[in-house]
Amino acid sequence: MGSILIETRDITKKFGDFTANDKINIAVEEGEIRAIIGENGAGKSTLMNMLYGILKPTSGEILFNGKPVILDSPLDAIKLGIGMVHQHFKLSPSLSIYENIVLGDETVKTLNVFGKHFKGFLVDQKKEMAEIQALVDKFNFNLDITAKVRDISIGAKQRVEILKMLYRNVNLLILDEPTAVLIPSEVEDLIERMQDLKKAGKTIIIITHKLNEVKMCADNITVIRGGRVIGTVRNDESTTDSDLAEMMVGRPVLLRVNKSDKKPGDKVVYRVSNLSAKDSDGKKIINDISFDIHENEVIGIAGVEGNGQTDLMLALTGLLDISEGSVSFNGEDITGLWPDELRRHKIGIVPEDRYRQGLCLGMPVSANLIAGMHGRWPFCVHGIMQNAPIKENKERLVEAFDIRLGSDDPPVGSLSGGNAQKVIIAREFSKHPQLLLVSQPTRGVDIGAIEFIHNEILRMRDKGAAILIFSSELSEVVGLSDKVYVMYKGEFVGIFKSDDVSFNELGLYMSGVKRMSKEEIAANG
Ligand SMILES: Nc1ncnc2c1ncn2[C@@H]1O[C@H](COP(=O)(O)OP(=O)(O)OP(=O)(O)O)[C@@H](O)[C@H]1O
Ligand SMILES: [Mg+2]
Repeated sequence: MGSILIETRDITKKFGDFTANDKINIAVEEGEIRAIIGENGAGKSTLMNMLYGILKPTSGEILFNGKPVILDSPLDAIKLGIGMVHQHFKLSPSLSIYENIVLGDETVKTLNVFGKHFKGFLVDQKKEMAEIQALVDKFNFNLDITAKVRDISIGAKQRVEILKMLYRNVNLLILDEPTAVLIPSEVEDLIERMQDLKKAGKTIIIITHKLNEVKMCADNITVIRGGRVIGTVRNDESTTDSDLAEMMVGRPVLLRVNKSDKKPGDKVVYRVSNLSAKDSDGKKIINDISFDIHENEVIGIAGVEGNGQTDLMLALTGLLDISEGSVSFNGEDITGLWPDELRRHKIGIVPEDRYRQGLCLGMPVSANLIAGMHGRWPFCVHGIMQNAPIKENKERLVEAFDIRLGSDDPPVGSLSGGNAQKVIIAREFSKHPQLLLVSQPTRGVDIGAIEFIHNEILRMRDKGAAILIFSSELSEVVGLSDKVYVMYKGEFVGIFKSDDVSFNELGLYMSGVKRMSKEEIAANG
């Protein structure tokens, strides 16, 4: 490793009266992979956004290659060699990979007219494509650069975002929660790509909530809490997951779930019978799905992402048309009902895509916390919104779910990623639902909050709720549920008691190597 590439000196960022970064000093060496970890709202994204010119520091300095720099925009950062990939991709789906990469940075042809050189208007496509292909090959990116972005996997989209930065010759690559949306094999691939970049002399700063990933890739780990640096440690055997967890949260964290030995009841709360759905081309994307959830029972659905789990959740919440089959709740037919109508039945819904389905970003936290109940007592009386109960509800939930706000009642759009997720969780869990449909409950939330959310799910189960969980975290589905179904290509291909199944065995079903017959699944369901 070499000299220090980027350094901050007492860098501070305030939003109004709220200090998101408080005199942060970090120094990252050239060729290093540095992980930044910390609770939701600790100030990680804020710090990175300052290094990438998206936010301006309130005070303090940034030094790049030993020289103080002022970054007014990402363009300034890129010119210096600093690139960033956000968690929410910013690609144009209808353009090809190649077009997305050159967008805004096209190479123009130089024309030679009677010995004079003119910068023309024609784009030198051949040269661009050759350069991009060379990068793809050099870093083993495994992409067909002529493919349209809408047709490629999430992991591939992320590689395109990284490639876009490499094409602009950055030396420092900042990745803000790059693995939150990836499936395990994509995570492994990303980490290998990071090692290749490191070998080529690039420097990487990565933010993640997953300690196993930190252990796998980082040279050094910086922990941030409450806007301050708690410490930087070397990533070696002496640094354990529980040490890191404690540094992050400020208290010991239980890194596994503890289920009670309460058994599921006899009453069927939720019944899904022979459910199928088709895509716009008439192809079956969900094929003959049946299952029951009893009171005091958690059913988990495991599967590699893209095998119909998202569609099943949409179909169960009225957002995807059902072609065959039915759904009932306490014996009542609720097939195809919309989220709003389901919520009226006291069914809690935590959607997968929180920014598109769960939240209204421009509205304050208090309003988001009553969404779906806003027309009802005590929040609304004779058509008039009641400020006192709305405020009281917000204060109670913010406290109970430890939602970190920068001011009294900010718009949800200003919250950190994990805190936005907690707003949905708080709203849906606090209604004491009899049935809870949850997708990716802990995506983007910190380990302290994961422990809390898991405990809440198990507490609701023990109090009688029926719960359905979709999660790409195998340990989460297995740890929380009584039974796990494996979904593969739109169908259930296996069912297991969570207590006696290994991850290896599940993996064989998830990858389509093994499958049970329909009769076997029905008999064990
Ligand atoms: N534009 C903004 N306006 C007001 N407050 C903000 C803004 N951006 C961030 N904050 C506040 O600053 C704090 C730090 O947010 P930041 O996004 O840096 O957290 P984070 O560590 O990245 O958390 P997460 O792990 O949840 O992504 C949060 O409490 C957030 O509410
Ligand atoms: Mg963040």
